[in-house]
Amino acid sequence: MSTIESAVQQFRTLLEEQRARAEAMLNAAPPKDFTKLDRVVVGVIDGDGIGPIISAQSTRVLEALLKEDIAAGRIVLKPIRGLTIENRLAKGQAVPDDVLAEVRTCDVLLKGPTETPKGGTMESANVTLRRELDLYANVRPVAVPDQDIDWIFFRENTEGEYVLGSRGVELPGELCMDFKVTTVPGTKRIARAAFEYAKNNGKTSVAIVTKANIMKKTDGRFSEICHEIAADYPGIEAEDWYIDIMTAKLVDPRVRSRFQVFLLPNLYGDIITDEAAQLQGGVGTAGSANLGDQYAMFEAIHGSAPRMIETGRGDYANPSSLLRAAGMLLRHIARADRAALLDEALDAVPHDGDTAKGFADRLIAWIEAKHD
Ligand code: IPM
Ligand code: MG
Repeated sequence: MSTIESAVQQFRTLLEEQRARAEAMLNAAPPKDFTKLDRVVVGVIDGDGIGPIISAQSTRVLEALLKEDIAAGRIVLKPIRGLTIENRLAKGQAVPDDVLAEVRTCDVLLKGPTETPKGGTMESANVTLRRELDLYANVRPVAVPDQDIDWIFFRENTEGEYVLGSRGVELPGELCMDFKVTTVPGTKRIARAAFEYAKNNGKTSVAIVTKANIMKKTDGRFSEICHEIAADYPGIEAEDWYIDIMTAKLVDPRVRSRFQVFLLPNLYGDIITDEAAQLQGGVGTAGSANLGDQYAMFEAIHGSAPRMIETGRGDYANPSSLLRAAGMLLRHIARADRAALLDEALDAVPHDGDTAKGFADRLIAWIEAKHD
């Protein structure tokens, strides 16, 4: 078979699979109410590089915060092992089957960073988990109160450039193509999540960020569908922005404080949330929620920082980002008071270039003093 023929065949398979995925979304089970669980199983995945270090220290802080809930069996912190780069490469799976089975026994996950091999065909573990657990809303808050910045990003998390990112086609030695996917139900559900958030939190505007002038099919449709959903939310303005000018506006102090909620496809959301986090103090300071109807996963927005490990500075990794994510997790399972205490501790206790353990010790001491 010619290479064109086999590429075309591959494309047909991809189209059929994506159509089936969109159909499955329409028949999805009713959402689970995470605020009403009698017993919440929190899977703790430590990951690679600095992951085990920041994960161990975040777990200690969570144990201090949730002492009573854990003692009463209302919350279980369950370590999930095996999502390491070594095990993933040995098994040839982005998320090995036995690890995924363990993950599925949990309600929510707190995940340390995992290494993503560049090139090759091995998918990122993040992308696999987001897809397998259908975690369609990547929610990332960024706040810089003294600059009047209070943003929240709703990044579509299961399609766009990511869903087929490891399955592009190639005519070897000639050319290659990757695919970007926008489905109608996939866009509706992320748009709904963003506008519901806006409505429930007194926000008056949602910025829909695309490159619809260039990516006419995918981003064009994304924007249209977001406006259709916006029509159900009178009083909330839906504004169209292009991603390039938006990256500029985020660093324009005269304009940026007017933005409230951002709604955007996967890759733009990936890029711009790093930029936004940098304004807040760096990617080490920002938490991230991956929300689905049946599961939710909370993680740092940064990677596994292999350079810190290579240069022997791993113990000094800052667990703040994972702890901010833990705060989002606590709110998701109706422990808002614990989340507020954690946020207060993170605001009150300076990191000061300490080791992860030293920092956690000081946070725990602060929490325990407050508790007594
Ligand atoms: C993120 C990360 C991931 C992404 C990587 C690790 C796959 O950058 O969560 O923003 O690109 O989504
Ligand atoms: Mg990213």
